[in-house]
Amino acid sequence: MHFPITLVTLVAPLIVSAAPWKRALSSADLQVLKFADLLEQLESRFYTEALAKFQTSDFQEAGFTSGDLPIQQITLIMNDEATHATALGDTIVANGGQVISGCKFNFSSALTDVNTFIATARVVEQVGVGAYLGGTAIISDRAVLQVAGTIATVESRHQTILNALNGANTIPNAFDIPLSPSQVLAIAGGFISGCDVGIPEPVTANAPLTVTNVTGPIQPGTTLSFQSPAINSSIHDNTLFCQIIVGGQNVSTPMPLDQCTVPQNTNGPVVVLITSDSEPLAVSTVDQVTGTTVAGPTVFFVDSVSDLLGKEVRPSMGNSSASAGTSASTS
Ligand SMILES: *[C@@H]1O[C@H](CO)[C@@H](O)[C@H](O)[C@H]1NC(C)=O
Ligand SMILES: *[C@@H]1O[C@H](CO)[C@@H](O)[C@H](O)[C@H]1NC(C)=O
Ligand SMILES: *[C@@H]1O[C@H](CO)[C@@H](O)[C@H](O)[C@H]1NC(C)=O
Ligand SMILES: *[C@@H]1O[C@H](CO)[C@@H](O)[C@H](O)[C@H]1NC(C)=O
Ligand SMILES: *[C@@H]1O[C@H](CO)[C@@H](O)[C@H](O)[C@H]1NC(C)=O
Repeated sequence: MHFPITLVTLVAPLIVSAAPWKRALSSADLQVLKFADLLEQLESRFYTEALAKFQTSDFQEAGFTSGDLPIQQITLIMNDEATHATALGDTIVANGGQVISGCKFNFSSALTDVNTFIATARVVEQVGVGAYLGGTAIISDRAVLQVAGTIATVESRHQTILNALNGANTIPNAFDIPLSPSQVLAIAGGFISGCDVGIPEPVTANAPLTVTNVTGPIQPGTTLSFQSPAINSSIHDNTLFCQIIVGGQNVSTPMPLDQCTVPQNTNGPVVVLITSDSEPLAVSTVDQVTGTTVAGPTVFFVDSVSDLLGKEVRPSMGNSSASAGTSASTS
């Protein structure tokens, strides 16, 4: 268990010893910390419930070469998330803030079976990476920014492991995709309800979005249809647009909603939003126009490049696999 110990020594002195670390944080910085802490609480609970439910034999039956391997990796990840949540919570309190607390997390749709759990965990970690990247656009205190960086790199390690546990390409792109807090909540919000201390203003969730007509792998060339409480089926599709964001590009690819097709050469995470106009969205959340967003994003993976490491871990999925969006579709 060297990794959690190493992490504690790296991260903890920076932020747990924050009692003297009163930096007169701006309310925006404090909000980012509260939001990050909420996500870490969610992740920590998610893995705790999963490990209580699934045994070595369940992972073996799901096609892992070793049932102990995913349990060991998920345990490492779970411990990191719990450490992050504690450290962020302590920092929030030390700086006069109030931790978002008392939330109920409902993961029943994501823990139906090992495949769904591992596919959802992959999305959860991608969203975690995106959330910290989005946070860098908001945080003004350089020390807080650096702490966020020390966590973001670890979330990205988790995400790579989850790629391998899904039998997929471990490092699909040279660039990741930032997500704003409103976007993160559109994805994670379906798991969360009833917090005693709520999400700080002015963060409001975008309307959730789900892919409705693809149950198997999503591949380049797959045309998608969607559902969202914000999409009125009586609105003619040609008034709305889907915006597909992939890693490594600086703008989205816009398409009419009823012709929303995954571009050729896509590999790795895909972020899809629905907008009310056809202007491409900047991928940078600093430059991105938000006023046209109608719903989303939803996040899924396109696995078009096979990976020897992924195949070693999960031979049955080594060629092509994908998870259709997240399962956080309950809201
Ligand atoms: C959890 O969510 C599922 C739908 O995914 C729902 O059927 C169930 O009632 C929820 N459980 C609780 C305790 O709210
Ligand atoms: C999903 O729905 C769209 C729009 O109705 C359709 O064009 C597409 O063929 C469907 N995709 C699949 C994989 O069924
Ligand atoms: C959908 O649009 C129709 C026609 O404009 C309207 O009557 C209806 O109330 C709308 N429904 C929702 C849920 O917005
Ligand atoms: C994206 O990059 C291209 C050059 O590759 C540049 O012309 C364009 O202005 C950039 N757009 C944004 C929104 O950064
Ligand atoms: C993966 O590809 C190999 C070689 O093309 C093939 O033999 C194997 O059956 C494929 N596995 C799956 C699960 O599709």
